Amino acid sequence: MNINMNPNSERHQSVVRMPDLAQVPEDLVSHAMEFQSTMMMYSGAIRKVKTKLEVLNDELSVRNQRNPIELIKSRVKRPKSIVEKLQRRGYPVTLESMKEHLDDIAGIRVICTFVDEIYTVADMLARQDDIRIVAVKDYIKHPKPNGYRSYHMIVETPVFFSDSKKNMRVEVQIRTMAMDFWASLDHQLKYKKDIGGAADRISRELKECADVIADTDQRMLEIRQSIEAEGGTVM
Ligand code: GTP
Ligand code: MG
Repeated sequence: MNINMNPNSERHQSVVRMPDLAQVPEDLVSHAMEFQSTMMMYSGAIRKVKTKLEVLNDELSVRNQRNPIELIKSRVKRPKSIVEKLQRRGYPVTLESMKEHLDDIAGIRVICTFVDEIYTVADMLARQDDIRIVAVKDYIKHPKPNGYRSYHMIVETPVFFSDSKKNMRVEVQIRTMAMDFWASLDHQLKYKKDIGGAADRISRELKECADVIADTDQRMLEIRQSIEAEGGTVM
């Protein structure tokens, strides 16, 4: 490996140094604060939608004696991913552009036990009068060619702050534990290098695994339904 130690080399000059805060231009500080405040609003929107999902889960579990939601995960997109996505799509890297073009700054992932519960949860969320559905992608009825399955909703909801009300967008991905298992491994494997010539075979195998998993999800649902038909409850 050739490590260039010359301090005047391009590599050395590209290293980002910590700024001397006293020297940072005022507009950079105000931009940073505006960014922080926008991110705080997205995280407020996450909390609001997450609470709605938790309330639905509580209500459904009282009614059905079973938790339809196993787990809810959430995240605010990292600045690095925001910049990369804006650049990848050819949009300007500004706060305004981010708010206009990116729908997944605030993301919630809902992991359900059975496939039918995905639609129950999605419908109940969609029916709430302070939720506006911006877009839906049903990758369960229409899986991606690589086998990816999940139900995606972009929702918009008003969030109240000290002196304003903002309509905030949140991406909600709803999937079963099995779909989540596949998507997590798919995500990890995609970043592995050196699959070169084996890429086609690996994609085929991943797709086969996705189909086996979907078949298992369907069979598990049928097992639950036949237990319920016998008058049993599935806890
Ligand atoms: P992104 O630019 O990836 O956000 O895609 P998009 O804006 O066209 O939206 P889409 O609904 O297709 O995908 C949104 C998100 O779903 C992604 O950011 C991933 O979290 C997830 N996703 C979509 N496709 C795949 C996939 O093939 N594998 C995995 N593991 N996750 C996926
Ligand atoms: Mg996305």
